Amino acid sequence: MGPSPFIIVAIDGGAASGKSSSSRILAEQFNLLHVDTGSFYRHLTAELLRRRVPPTDAGALELTLAALEFSTQIDGRSARMLVDGAPAGDDIRSQDVNSMVSHYAAVPAVRAALLAYQRGQREVAQQHNLRGLVMEGRDIGSVIFPDATFRFFLHADPLERAKRRAAEGQTDSITERDRLDSSRKASPLTCPQGAIDIDSTSLTLDQVVAKMAALIAPALTA
Ligand code: CDP
Repeated sequence: MGPSPFIIVAIDGGAASGKSSSSRILAEQFNLLHVDTGSFYRHLTAELLRRRVPPTDAGALELTLAALEFSTQIDGRSARMLVDGAPAGDDIRSQDVNSMVSHYAAVPAVRAALLAYQRGQREVAQQHNLRGLVMEGRDIGSVIFPDATFRFFLHADPLERAKRRAAEGQTDSITERDRLDSSRKASPLTCPQGAIDIDSTSLTLDQVVAKMAALIAPALTA
């Protein structure tokens, strides 16, 4: 038996569809780097709001994005993005960021600024001797890693998702973010062709993870 292969698991889906919880569990179970790209967009949004650069000001955005430096800190099995050396603050889950993140994420220059950084997480995982990475977002299976070993797409009824977010104590306009994320021109939220579509509306988190794990496990013991 040769060395086990390095695997990439892409998990995409709408707001509060269960991506983060399932990714975190899979990362622990299979010794993978957990990469939450939504937290990268949130961190960048918080930084741009602090600098008062609106998503509509293309010139200021370009200048600011070109000057920012992204690096990575590993916390357990999770990759944390540092912007100019600073980690994200609690404000990345604030109402201001919830309501603005999709507007920044629709700007091609913002997506371009994070593209190479996100792909670079493969090397981060390899440097830390992990068996692969699980990356969650909106365009991971379509744009960032279209050749990922596994591509999952999580669906859930909007009412169920709103309940999940409220249970986390958050005010979040899930349907509005989904509308903006699905209708934008640059890397819209969509289930890529060939991805494994899972409807989690009536499944528990454990059941969702079990479905994914049943497919992933054989690839790691091959
Ligand atoms: O709240 P939830 O965990 O569902 O969302 P998130 O993963 O934290 O992502 C926040 C926002 O970032 C999304 O609504 C998208 O606008 C944007 N995003 C994106 O455009 N592409 C990604 N790969 C990840 C997030």
